[in-house]
Amino acid sequence: MTEDSINQWVLTHQKRIDVILQDFFNNQKNTLLKNACEYTLLNGGKRVRSLLIYAIGEDEKILNPFHLDQLALSVELIHAYSLTHDDLPSMDDDSLRRGKPSCHIEFNEGQAILAGDALQSLAFQVLSDNNLNIHNDIKIKIINILSQSIGLNGMALGQSMDINSDKMNSSIEVLERLQELKTGALIKASCVIPFLLSKNYEEIYLADMANIGHLIGKIYQITDDILDIESNTETLGKTADKDRKNNKMTYISLVGKKEALKIKANIFENLNKSIEQFPRKLIALQNLAHYIYKRAY
Ligand code: IPE
Ligand code: IPE
Ligand code: MG
Ligand code: MG
Ligand code: MG
Repeated sequence: MTEDSINQWVLTHQKRIDVILQDFFNNQKNTLLKNACEYTLLNGGKRVRSLLIYAIGEDEKILNPFHLDQLALSVELIHAYSLTHDDLPSMDDDSLRRGKPSCHIEFNEGQAILAGDALQSLAFQVLSDNNLNIHNDIKIKIINILSQSIGLNGMALGQSMDINSDKMNSSIEVLERLQELKTGALIKASCVIPFLLSKNYEEIYLADMANIGHLIGKIYQITDDILDIESNTETLGKTADKDRKNNKMTYISLVGKKEALKIKANIFENLNKSIEQFPRKLIALQNLAHYIYKRAY
């Protein structure tokens, strides 16, 4: 596939999830809290976690589009919650997100905290809804995987380590753990969850899919660290050079940009091997991995 057709695939699926997100909020009662949630969710975003779901859906021939759309909706709700809280003054204190004032600037801190809370619970409301006609055993498994990925030993722990990282002894092992949790866990879940709906689902390959998600998560956050110093606020839509200002432990602070790029390239090589060794062809996922590797914002 050419770079142009990969970009086209990405655009088509970004539009698909954007319509789902908009419809979802059009059906909610109009309140201040709803406006804060909608503001956070509908202000752009690359929708990478949804793209992973759609790519795996395509490769694994998951035929029910509604199932994929609802999974994508739920991970975007969770991701938006995490960003809303991540930007709070008590966390990264960032006033810009996706090119617009962060939720707590546009509304206020209390509303932003509550918007995050509501976005998180909406994700589980969507997944547990009766209209989502997935077999109950699989549904519970999906809810369990997703909740584990973001909770006490998942994303929340990674965020806890992250905001404490200026006080921690830095090492590559700690950094890997921190990033695996704060960013990797939800990305990994976004690969595992659609795989559970695969027509040819076989449990023995679940760990292979999880490993693919794990490697994509690593590449994603290393790139985020690199872009923080390499790019600018306008392109990123969030404040550039923020990690240094906040004294964060990142690949840049620990090993520098040159080494970070090398590490990223090595992981990408491993990722491609893992995708090729998977028992079935993962063409859409391979193309998406390429897009993720190359991303410039
Ligand atoms: C930013 O996520 C925070 C990280 C976990 C690296 P994204 O880079 O996916 O942000 P959006 O959704 O595209 O704005
Ligand atoms: C955010 O990591 C991770 C989560 C939101 C869970 P960062 O703090 O590096 O993300 P940005 O750079 O603000 O988007
Ligand atoms: Mg952060
Ligand atoms: Mg941040
Ligand atoms: Mg960052």
